[in-house]
Amino acid sequence: MNILITGANGQLGNEMRIIAKESTDKYIFTDVNQVEGVETTYLDITDMDAIRKMVADNNVNAIVNCAGYTNVDGAETNEALAEKLNADASENLAKAMKEVGGLLIHISTDYVFGGNSYNTPCKEDQKGTPTGVYGLSKLHGEERIIATGCNHVIIRTAWLYSEFGKNFCKTMMNLTATKPQLKVVFDQVGTPTYALDLAKAIEVILEKFDGSQTGIYHFSNEGVCSWYDFTKMIAEYNGTTSCDIQPCHSNEFPSPVTRPSYSVLDKTKIKETFGIKVPYWTDSLKTCISNLKK
Ligand SMILES: NC(=O)c1ccc[n+]([C@@H]2O[C@H](COP(=O)([O-])OP(=O)(O)OC[C@H]3O[C@@H](n4cnc5c(N)ncnc54)[C@H](OP(=O)(O)O)[C@@H]3O)[C@@H](O)[C@H]2O)c1
Repeated sequence: MNILITGANGQLGNEMRIIAKESTDKYIFTDVNQVEGVETTYLDITDMDAIRKMVADNNVNAIVNCAGYTNVDGAETNEALAEKLNADASENLAKAMKEVGGLLIHISTDYVFGGNSYNTPCKEDQKGTPTGVYGLSKLHGEERIIATGCNHVIIRTAWLYSEFGKNFCKTMMNLTATKPQLKVVFDQVGTPTYALDLAKAIEVILEKFDGSQTGIYHFSNEGVCSWYDFTKMIAEYNGTTSCDIQPCHSNEFPSPVTRPSYSVLDKTKIKETFGIKVPYWTDSLKTCISNLKK
């Protein structure tokens, strides 16, 4: 297969680079963001003509869209840009795959939920109730992809972290190492996702997709925790246990967006459809921190 990766210099995109090293498929890594020493072809996914040309020149038959507007708070004041990247551009990629009969694997988010209160894991067909601009723009992206009629696998994931870029795990490794005390919210519950585990799941989907599995799927690591629990384990695996970490309520950290208080994703569908095995969140966290320390 000839696989186009967009947003290749982000967290997930970089993990796809690791997966590609062991693959016999041809991967083309693209982004608007150039990183010194990392081979990246320029592709702006808001540019439909450029996407069509990239697909034709490389005979692309699958796109993995790792690009997006991912600043949840920033989206509240940059609605047009969030919509352009997360909805319009996602539709561009879907149209390009529809035109050549290819597959679009697109990444969405648990932030499409949150407006309703519930305490059981969210299933794929649960109604989207986003609480902010980011979640709404991602929900629009899903709808626009589906409307093109292309072969698609939309993967909603949550609390993504990796060795690459900025993320909660790296921030907390630093804060627990440098601060004597830290307060972290315990009233938002979900599941972290190691981006390398998601990249491995994407590799399985690329191998097994046969046209019949088009749809929305959920993927995170296994288990459930709060941001407070997540931080406690980060400190433990990082060896920064001298920091006094205390639980607090979300209202102690005012933010422009109300985060979902419970956004655990039910992963039964992706496991049953593609035979994907999902690691437990603390096992993956341990692996990521150990990789970061190498
Ligand atoms: N991070 C999370 O916790 C989380 C949770 C759930 C779902 N997701 C979803 O997972 C996906 C991957 O997230 P991530 O954390 O890996 O993202 P990320 O690290 O923010 O990477 C996104 C990449 O896309 C690039 N990009 C921005 N505008 C572009 C454009 N017009 N054309 C092409 N590339 C463009 C970015 O470049 P710049 O850096 O220059 O902008 C960046 O390199 C996203 O769809 C996100 O919504 C993320």
